[in-house]
Amino acid sequence: MTFVADKFDNSGTAQVKADDGTVVSLLVGKGVAGRETPKGKTDVFGVVVKSGGDWKLVAARFLPANRKAVQELATKATCMTCHNPDARVVAGTPLLGPPYREVAAKYRNDPDAASKLIAQMKTGGQGKWGQVPMPPLAAVVQPDDMQKLADWILGYRWDTILAE
Ligand code: HEC
Repeated sequence: MTFVADKFDNSGTAQVKADDGTVVSLLVGKGVAGRETPKGKTDVFGVVVKSGGDWKLVAARFLPANRKAVQELATKATCMTCHNPDARVVAGTPLLGPPYREVAAKYRNDPDAASKLIAQMKTGGQGKWGQVPMPPLAAVVQPDDMQKLADWILGYRWDTILAE
């Protein structure tokens, strides 16, 4: 899907266009009003509800359509050994790093979020989520890939914004 408008208004709906040109109207939370819509091809996840006799999609998550490729990048760069997009525990094993959904929620109103995430990848960090440190990973991630990873992680901010 691609968003028809550059910004969300306060109507509680947003128009997205499918690849075949069909325009679909989504129900969106109040938190989106005034924000820029996601750029480029975006997948929309949500819950289908019946409203006024019609089936409508209540949007709950927007993620970039290229996220599979970026997640492969994250696996190659070892990120996924300590992080999961949604969970703190995977297959019974607690992960050392915070879920990306929570990182994105923390930075949902911060215009400098991407550069802060990139700084964390380059130099590592400690004390923002607990006492366990994250190692610096500049040696295993290319600068271009850091930007892609940051954009993907921050895509999860919509989970929180749409719920507002
Ligand atoms: C060895 C485990 C480990 C690996 C590998 C790892 N992280 Fe982390 N990550 C952590 C921990 C622990 C924290 C919390 C650090 C803190 O409290 O400041 C963290 C925090 C973060 C944060 C939050 C920063 C903030 O400002 O709140 C981001 C973003 C992040 N990691 C991204 C990545 C990415 C992208 C990769 C792969 C390139 C990666 N991490 C690899 C353990 C890891």
